[in-house]
Amino acid sequence: MKTILVTGGTGYIGSHTVVELLNLNYEVVIIDNLSNSKEMVLDRIEKITGKRPKFYKGDIRSREDLNKIFKENKIDCVINFAGLKAVGESVRMPLEYYENNIYGAVVLLEEMKKNGVFNFIFSSSATVYGDPASVPVDETFPTGGTTNPYGTTKLFIERILQDLAVAEPEFNICILRYFNPIGAHPSGLMGEDPNGIPNNLAPYITQVMVGKREKLNIFGDDYDTPDGTCIRDYIHVCDLAYGHVCAIKKLEEKPGVVVYNLGTGKGSSVFDILHAFEKAYGKPIPYSVAPRRAGDVTANYTKVDKAAKEIGFTAKYNIEDMARDAWNWQKNNPNGYEE
Ligand code: NAD
Ligand code: WQD
Repeated sequence: MKTILVTGGTGYIGSHTVVELLNLNYEVVIIDNLSNSKEMVLDRIEKITGKRPKFYKGDIRSREDLNKIFKENKIDCVINFAGLKAVGESVRMPLEYYENNIYGAVVLLEEMKKNGVFNFIFSSSATVYGDPASVPVDETFPTGGTTNPYGTTKLFIERILQDLAVAEPEFNICILRYFNPIGAHPSGLMGEDPNGIPNNLAPYITQVMVGKREKLNIFGDDYDTPDGTCIRDYIHVCDLAYGHVCAIKKLEEKPGVVVYNLGTGKGSSVFDILHAFEKAYGKPIPYSVAPRRAGDVTANYTKVDKAAKEIGFTAKYNIEDMARDAWNWQKNNPNGYEE
């Protein structure tokens, strides 16, 4: 496969994946409506790779936008990052989430089919496991029990993809369930740039480090874990980006529909992450313990065997690397991609 259409390619994970693809000499076409990213990302991608991906400002819900791209480019594979992803917002605006994420995915798949493009990689999430009965989770664990509409969009799209694979054997589909992507490109030129108050742990911590927030609120220290805080499987965004290359190679084998968890296999607590950032910072980071956050599960981390064995994916960065690179990005870009 040579030419990859990356939807949501100017977003956090998309942009890092585009860099990885360009470095490996894939041709990249991006469609993004810039609802949660900036066009300046393209300059940064060019600075890192020496190449500028073809960019279409457009929407995956627009058949016109998609057809233009499929007519003008010979696309071999689509990676679908485009979607809304804020858990709390999805509780307030469920219809917007179902419309953007689910309808968007359906339109994209329909237009792929019409245009004879049958390779699809989908950004799913560990959230589809709900509150897992035990950890580590593997891909055979039951899905369901999502605690918010965002998570439910991922669950439903996975189900749609399974149904599609039965009905249309020409499709080859790789569902990637990401655990907790954090970190940034080691160059300090690209990273996570959330709008407003960050919902997620790592960008909140880096905003405290850069002086934009007073202190980290740790949501609960009375969980049944060694230090009382929740445990997650944090994965460096550059490792995650590489996971998509592994998925593209797998699709070349025409496997039908396949599912992989992408994580490191290592669980880290909120305090472990805080300490990794303190190491990068060289001084303590202020925090206080706050009440639990609704919907948080105690522990979620993955088994890595299936991805290692079937697609050769192994994460190489640890949480200290993630903290160092996230801090390097935030320090060099205190206001993200703003000029
Ligand atoms: P992001 O918001 O940075 O990137 C998503 C991009 O999609 C943005 O650039 C946005 O402008 C674009 N977009 C949204 N709706 C669109 C539409 N209808 N048409 C065209 N473009 C559209 O998010 P991210 O963190 O890079 O996540 C990428 C994907 O991975 C998402 O689908 C997300 O749900 C999934 N995911 C993310 C995480 C995480 O923690 N970041 C974890 C698991 C899964
Ligand atoms: C991690 C830990 C918090 C912020 C979410 C989505 C999930 C996926 C990844 C897309 C938890 C604690 C956080 C803060 C804190 N996204 N925390 N203070 O909740 O594992 O997953 O992002 O698919 O669907 O739910 O990640 O980074 O929000 O939280 O104490 O200010 O940090 O309670 O234990 P989470 P997170």
